[in-house]
Formats: sequence, structure tokens, C-alpha cells
Amino acid sequence: MPKLPQSTRGWILNRRPVASPSPDDVTLTDLPLPDLQDGQVLVRNTHMAVLPSMLGLMRAGPLDQRLGVHGPHNPHSAYLPYTLGDPMTGPALGEVLASRADTLQPGDTVRHMLGWREHATAPADTMEHIQPKGLPPSLFLGALGLNGLTAYAGLTLAATLRTGDTVFVSAAGGSVGSLAGQIARLKGAARVIGSAGTSGKCDRLKAEFGFDAAINYTDDDLTKQLHQAAPDGIDVYFDNVGGDHLHAAIECMRHHGRIVLCGMLSQYLSGGGEAGGLPANVSAAIGKSLTLTGFHVFDHLDGVPGFAEDMPSWIAARQITCPQTVFDGIDRAHEAFQALFHGHTTGQTLVRL
Ligand SMILES: NC(=O)c1ccc[n+]([C@@H]2O[C@H](COP(=O)([O-])OP(=O)(O)OC[C@H]3O[C@@H](n4cnc5c(N)ncnc54)[C@H](OP(=O)(O)O)[C@@H]3O)[C@@H](O)[C@H]2O)c1
Repeated sequence: MPKLPQSTRGWILNRRPVASPSPDDVTLTDLPLPDLQDGQVLVRNTHMAVLPSMLGLMRAGPLDQRLGVHGPHNPHSAYLPYTLGDPMTGPALGEVLASRADTLQPGDTVRHMLGWREHATAPADTMEHIQPKGLPPSLFLGALGLNGLTAYAGLTLAATLRTGDTVFVSAAGGSVGSLAGQIARLKGAARVIGSAGTSGKCDRLKAEFGFDAAINYTDDDLTKQLHQAAPDGIDVYFDNVGGDHLHAAIECMRHHGRIVLCGMLSQYLSGGGEAGGLPANVSAAIGKSLTLTGFHVFDHLDGVPGFAEDMPSWIAARQITCPQTVFDGIDRAHEAFQALFHGHTTGQTLVRL
């Protein structure tokens, strides 16, 4: 048996970011790898995902408690903020190097939550055995992972998407947004509009991801642009951003339109004000009989009807494009994380280890 590593490199949280993430918040350090116990496996991580929600786990402030899944009356309180001085965690993909469990063998590909490090030792029952079946394994951290499920369940369950709908998706160049726009089209939307922060990204939305129209939110007034892109109004707004985007969408919603509150990117760096991303015109939801649905993918981890069949077959048939931005090396993990908040990435942002 090859000699197994006794230590690995991983990122620990030094201090809680106040607003934007800073390199001083974290340190890449050597972490010990304890000897394998019965039932455990040692995994060499091949990819890890960075997600905007990790800022909430680092910061753990009042906004993060409102936005996040920790806090009272919440069934997801297991998703706890990171502990200062401890290695950070998150979705990762790896190869089993050694196993003292019957269920996993060396060479198996596993998905687990011990990202932000090069190796991990953990009970085998906390690892999910992945069978890629010819699909690129890294997609199991994106389109075939939580973000694909988020886009799919957000549209089909929370928004109850219907054939012929006009759909608006914000942060449409991101991981969830780029998939949501394409899923909306594949599920029968008549017109799909996306927003992004650069003209280059807007071009990609139309050319590569099949959006009918793309709005650069840094250009002109958002409401004006949205009215132009959807002159007959919007049936479904998939909101990843909140704030001005939600304001513009409410202005352009049709009577009985449905809004899915999936994320509030506009609030994450500022820490949010008291309104937490809800705009002043939210009361128009009464006059227009709008439905605003808070959505969290953790409510759907047991599966969403259609997802396990649709997504792999769309990918295999090249009916859906799964963009990724890949940073190489554990040293670049925090740089990758910071890039999320500055529009420097498209699709799922991954670190290849
Ligand atoms: N509810 C759930 O279960 C669930 C699950 C997963 C993710 N989410 C949420 O879904 C949203 C998207 O996540 P993701 O993983 O797809 O993100 P992502 O891939 O990191 O995409 C983020 C993109 O959003 C845009 N953005 C960043 N700050 C912005 C701002 N202030 N205003 C407008 N756009 C901004 C940036 O692109 P441009 O600025 O260039 O457009 C950036 O590339 C996040 O809010 C996340 O927290 C929710």
C-alpha cells in the first residue's frame, strides 16, 4: 500500500469578515490527518466549490442569520457558521485513497462537505459515492449538485413554472442563474431574460446559454431595461440578488406573477440594512396579487421530481451548458471565493486541487 499522508493543507478562518472578504480573514496552513479508524476513509480532494453563502458562514452576523439557515425555528440549524481557528468546510469531490469501511474502496469518487483542504479523513457514511457514468465528475458540484437542484426546484416547485411563461433571472451568469435560465427554456418558458454585470457576460447569456434578452445592470435604469426586454410583463422572477433587481421585477410583474426569493447577492457585501434587500415597492405585491416564495434547497435534499432524470440527460444530449470558472490549486481557493463577489466568474466556481 502506498504511504498515506500524515498531514494536509487547508484553510482556517482567522477572523470574521466585516463586509467584503479579505485575505487577512483566512490562513492556508498544515492540518494533521488523524490515523484511520474503523468505518472511516481518507480522501484526496480533487475539486472544491466556493459559494456566496460561505460569506455568511464566515461572518455569522445578524443579516446572515436572517438570510441564512441558522437561527431559531429553522430545521437547518446543522448548517452552522464556521468556528474561528478551525478549518472551513464546503462541498468537495475527491478520490478515496484508503478505506476502513465496507461501503467505499480506494479509487471511488465521493462527494462530501470537507472542502477547503487537500485531503480529508471522515466516516464513510458522511461521504456520497458518485458514479459519473461518463459525465464530467466536477458537474456533481454544480449542475448535478446543490446549485443544479436549486435552479430546478426553484423553478419547478417554488415558481410553479408553466409553459409560455416569461421568466426573468438575476445573476444569470452565475452558477444557479445560468442553469435557471436554461431550465426555464427547457421546461417551456416562452421568453427568458437574464441580468449580469458586464456586456461580455450579457453576450454569453444570449450566445451560449440561450437567453432571449440580457440586461447589463450597470448600464441604464434597471426597471426601464426590464420593461423594454419584457414589454408584456414577467410571469416568473427568479431572484438571486434582491434590492434594485427585486424592485425592477416587481414593477414589471404581471398580475398573479410568481417571485422566488433564492438569494440576496446585493446585500451580502454590505451586511444588509434593516430591510434586508426588500425594496420599497414590495407592497405592490398586494395590488398585483403576486406570490413571493422564500426558497431553500435544503428543503429538497431528498429529491425533486424529475431532477435526477432531466439534468443528466440534458447534459449528455448537450441541451444544457454548464459553465465553470476553475482556479487551480488550494493556494487560490480564497482568491476564487473573493472573485464571486466582483463578477469575475461565470457559472460554477471551482478550485481544482
Ligand atoms: N436558496 C437556496 O437554496 C440557494 C442555493 C444556492 C445558492 N443560492 C443563492 O443564489 C444566488 C446565486 O448563487 P450562485 O452560487 O449562482 O452565485 P455565483 O455563481 O457566485 O454568481 C454570483 C454572480 O452574481 C453576480 N453578483 C455578485 N454580486 C452582485 C450584486 N451585488 N448585484 C448583482 N449581481 C451580483 C456576479 O456576476 P455579475 O455581477 O457579473 O452579474 C457573480 O458572478 C446567491 O444569492 C446564493 O446565495 C441560494
